[in-house]
Amino acid sequence: MASLMDRNLVLEFARVTEAAALNCAQWIGKGEKNLADGAAVEAMRKMFDTVSIDGTVVIGEGEMDEAPMLYIGEKVGKGGVAVDIAVDPLEGTNLTAKNMNGAIAVMAIAAKGGLLHAPDMYMEKIVVGPKAKGAIDINKTPEENMVNVAKALGKDPSELTIVMLDRERHQHIVQAARKLGARCKFISDGDVSPVIATSFGAEGVDMMMGTGGAPEGVIAAAAIKCMGGDMQGRLKPENEAEVQRVHDMGIADVDKVLTLDDLVSTDDVCFIATGVTNGDMLRGVRFTDKHAITHTVVMRGVTGTVRFIEAYHDYDKKPSYVKVK
Ligand code: FBP
Repeated sequence: MASLMDRNLVLEFARVTEAAALNCAQWIGKGEKNLADGAAVEAMRKMFDTVSIDGTVVIGEGEMDEAPMLYIGEKVGKGGVAVDIAVDPLEGTNLTAKNMNGAIAVMAIAAKGGLLHAPDMYMEKIVVGPKAKGAIDINKTPEENMVNVAKALGKDPSELTIVMLDRERHQHIVQAARKLGARCKFISDGDVSPVIATSFGAEGVDMMMGTGGAPEGVIAAAAIKCMGGDMQGRLKPENEAEVQRVHDMGIADVDKVLTLDDLVSTDDVCFIATGVTNGDMLRGVRFTDKHAITHTVVMRGVTGTVRFIEAYHDYDKKPSYVKVK
């Protein structure tokens, strides 16, 4: 499949998440999650002005009246190919404020219409890597899914590792894992990176299950699409207003199972993330006397290439809006 997006664009995209990560790194461990988030948003927004796209934010910082920058519907880019963009300038605001592992600056970019316009509410998620593609069914119990995934992976269920947010609402998943003797890996915040870990083999994670943010679900789905894994989601509206938002999206049945193709309907998609604090896949921003060092992953759905970029940013030559120290 040919891509609308020139492959060199991914380097321009990498600059965008690099800028977000660099600018919020000044707030790592300072207990100021909103300031950290604001710094990431501002730098990401400004760096977009240099990118050769005609972009529309479809998942962002909120509705136009709630967010000054990167709001839903905002146009970004200096002109070029028409794309839709889902951004999370700082995924893991608490992790950043507390200097804990796993915060990233992240976005997904797809050919127009390629990303589900997920509203800001919860989404139930189940995710596996390429080898277990087709083995998940969100309508089945956690235990049935674990058994089926283990079978697809050629493992005993007790050999599985299942990652999830450490939340009371996930007790039924934990109980199923305990019954089968499988391992649970708990994370405090930030469920985009753990989703990716299911498909990026080296990390020993077989499945991700549980409920987290819907916008994060779509962004993570872009990475799963690029890597050939599998994912299903189901929106979890918590009140009448949220139910209405689901209906407004054209989804009549709030319990509708969202397949990977519903979440990301095109292979012409890119996923880009830069580490803010250290994580399993990405190193966080590091500082030397002369440089700030960033670690970024870029993935392209068309080719399935996963590429890591380590960049050394000279303090003296950075754009003025990126404060690295
Ligand atoms: P931030 O918006 O503070 O970065 O948090 C993101 C996040 O941890 C997501 O990764 C996750 O999907 C969601 O929040 C979990 O929500 P909750 O903390 O309400 O369980």
